[in-house]
Amino acid sequence: MTSSRIACPELAGKLTSAAAAAAMIRPGDNVGLSGFTGAGYPKAVPGALAELMEQAHHRGESFQIGLWTGASTGPGVDGRLAEAAGISSRLPYNSDPVLRRQINAGEVDYLDEHLSHSAQHMWFGFYGHLDVAVIEVAAILPDGLLVPSSSVGNNKTWLDQADRVILEVNHWQPRELEGFHDLYYGAALPPHRLPIQLTEPMQRIGQPYLRVDLDKVVAVVETNLPDRNASFTPPDATSAAIAEHVLDFLRFEVAAGRMPASLLPLQSGVGNVANAVLAGLDKSEFTDLVAFTEVIQDGMLDLLDSGTLRATSATSFGLSDLGVTRFMTDIERYRGRILLRSEEISNHPELVRRLGVIAMNGMIEADIYGNVNSTHIMGSAIMNGIGGSGDFARNAFLNFFVSPSTAKNGAISSIVPMASHVDHTEHDTHVVVTEQGLADLRGKSPRARAREVISRCAHPQFRDALADYAERAWAERPTARHTPHLLAEALSWHERYLRTGQM
Ligand code: COA
Repeated sequence: MTSSRIACPELAGKLTSAAAAAAMIRPGDNVGLSGFTGAGYPKAVPGALAELMEQAHHRGESFQIGLWTGASTGPGVDGRLAEAAGISSRLPYNSDPVLRRQINAGEVDYLDEHLSHSAQHMWFGFYGHLDVAVIEVAAILPDGLLVPSSSVGNNKTWLDQADRVILEVNHWQPRELEGFHDLYYGAALPPHRLPIQLTEPMQRIGQPYLRVDLDKVVAVVETNLPDRNASFTPPDATSAAIAEHVLDFLRFEVAAGRMPASLLPLQSGVGNVANAVLAGLDKSEFTDLVAFTEVIQDGMLDLLDSGTLRATSATSFGLSDLGVTRFMTDIERYRGRILLRSEEISNHPELVRRLGVIAMNGMIEADIYGNVNSTHIMGSAIMNGIGGSGDFARNAFLNFFVSPSTAKNGAISSIVPMASHVDHTEHDTHVVVTEQGLADLRGKSPRARAREVISRCAHPQFRDALADYAERAWAERPTARHTPHLLAEALSWHERYLRTGQM
């Protein structure tokens, strides 16, 4: 391993092993890690830290940390530290199955936060003190400026706020990433905040580098290890049908004169349905599109390659192995067309609203009135977290929530009388889409929304029962007919599944 990527003599002098760096993290520390959707997380120090935790536990000593990141990381971070029983609390987003089990078992405190809030809540002092930041970078420049790697997430805030900083310089990350980032350093705290002067999705409002106080850097570690790259399956019939409904609706909106032919900036959640929508866009007549989104997944590269998408702003990559190879072998082709920002900017409510973003996100269930559950199974068990869905949906020009109409091989209806947990309220939701159809809830009263959602989105197997529920609620609540509910019966749908395995 060479240190060709560490051009700053002062920081080169702090080069050390992952084990020595991990030893600088103490039990009880709050640790801010880089990492977002499996991209740009530190690859060596977390594993070395997990070993120290296990050694401490063998000695009968407790060794746990508060773990803060941009969003999800990789099995080498969340999974490995969870296996070492080393995480006492976690924010703002997790998708690791091992850690998810511990959260749902009540062993780990989880703060599931809007991603645009996490940096500002740190600055507001809501989370307490940040002891250490462990940040992956692609290179260090002579003056100590940092070239970010494949995600930005909360790196700026963790670097600014932590007492001690450990840097991982990853030679696997393309050195050519320099110039792909825009780091905004203009944020102030209320009452001194000013408008963020971004009026076009690809506008630069900052600088390409992260800053760090060199005196705070206690260790620099070199690695040469890949990101955790997501795998994507080609769209199946269900996700392709959902995508087709979304595309038809966009055509309808353009024809109605509510948006230009090149649409408005797109935000697309992660996952196979989101990729299917992107694949559908690529085959469609739409062109000259732009994205103001959170994650760049394979579907976005396809759109950039075909020219359907002019450019995209995001906070992270979230590519498959194949997508990474494509990006790395032809990186110059994407220069100027991909910009990575801090998640407080990529997801900023002010910007999402000003730009008029079209937001498309997955959901677990929606109820007949349009309340959407993105996070909890049967009201209690967390799946992943709210992520950026609320940042985008609440402030979007137009939002879609998409899901297959059933889950667990048809045993569960994704359309229910009353959502078992609400992340996006009936006041926020614009359009609900399943493979069955699309319900446009804009400008409709709750009862009209219920008719739309049931008739267009519910699976035929559940449609009659939902319609019957809605009619009886209306009939039996003559003085409460705004959003009438039969409370015990509404949630008995979920209880019935928990008891019998069938809704
Ligand atoms: N009831 C019970 N379980 C359900 C369910 C329902 N109505 N709907 C889905 N599930 C389960 C699935 O069975 C699956 O379980 P498994 O892992 O045990 O097989 C799991 O939830 C994931 O469902 P899947 O169909 O694979 O959906 P997905 O990968 O498209 O993800 C969300 C859907 C909602 C979990 C995902 O979009 C998410 O985490 N959203 C919140 C964050 C977000 O929107 N971020 C985007 C902002 S950029």
